[in-house]
Amino acid sequence: MNTPTLAIVVGSIRPDRFGPTPARWFAAEAERHGTFKVDLIDLADYDLPMELGGNDPDGEPPTAVTALGKRLAAADAFVLVTPVYNRSYSAALKTAIDWFYGEWALRPVSFISYGGFTGGLTSIEHLRGIFPEFPAVTTKSFIALANFWKTFDHDGRPVDSAALRTPATEVLDELSWWAPMLRDARENRPYPGMDFDVVPAEQHQEIPAWAT
Ligand SMILES: Cc1cc2nc3c(=O)[nH]c(=O)nc-3n(C[C@H](O)[C@H](O)[C@H](O)COP(=O)(O)O)c2cc1C
Repeated sequence: MNTPTLAIVVGSIRPDRFGPTPARWFAAEAERHGTFKVDLIDLADYDLPMELGGNDPDGEPPTAVTALGKRLAAADAFVLVTPVYNRSYSAALKTAIDWFYGEWALRPVSFISYGGFTGGLTSIEHLRGIFPEFPAVTTKSFIALANFWKTFDHDGRPVDSAALRTPATEVLDELSWWAPMLRDARENRPYPGMDFDVVPAEQHQEIPAWAT
């Protein structure tokens, strides 16, 4: 079986954001884990319109939507990296989620949140409520970075690598259990009651150099 692809999605797009720091760290952990091909996706690289598509089934999606959709479709598993804004996840993530259907479908989704004393856990719990719609499976494991400004040094390295590796490994172990099974199911077992096409992973798609 081809190596499954893990897409790690940076969900904050504001200037001076913290989001890329835990995303890059987790990408390195995923490389070390060795079960996935890793694609680090930054939503700041995609000018996704908040105004979603209309009702014309032949309407052309904006270029940024098409480009991001190809990368999402190539994924067999997702980790969404989310800030907490007013106790919930970012509008950038909601926009990215709402532009797509089949690209999320029948894939496992896990989360990294970061915030004050809650570690942004409310963002994860709010995100979990979305994914049954596609349907996608959210994992039991997650990473919530409490008082996140204390967790990484100025070079983006974890202050306590060993402590952070434990939840990272749990997330990666769980995703690597689901990913091949759901890929097989996507390809071979029609899901009941699906009212849109499941977009299959395009395993041989090249990740553009500018995105890595
Ligand atoms: C609009 C807004 C709302 C916020 N609300 C919360 C909050 O409810 N809880 C919290 O712990 N931090 C909150 N924060 C602080 C963020 O956790 C902090 O700014 C963090 O750096 C945001 O992630 P980012 O830098 O990747 O955008 C908020 C920040 C912003 C900009």
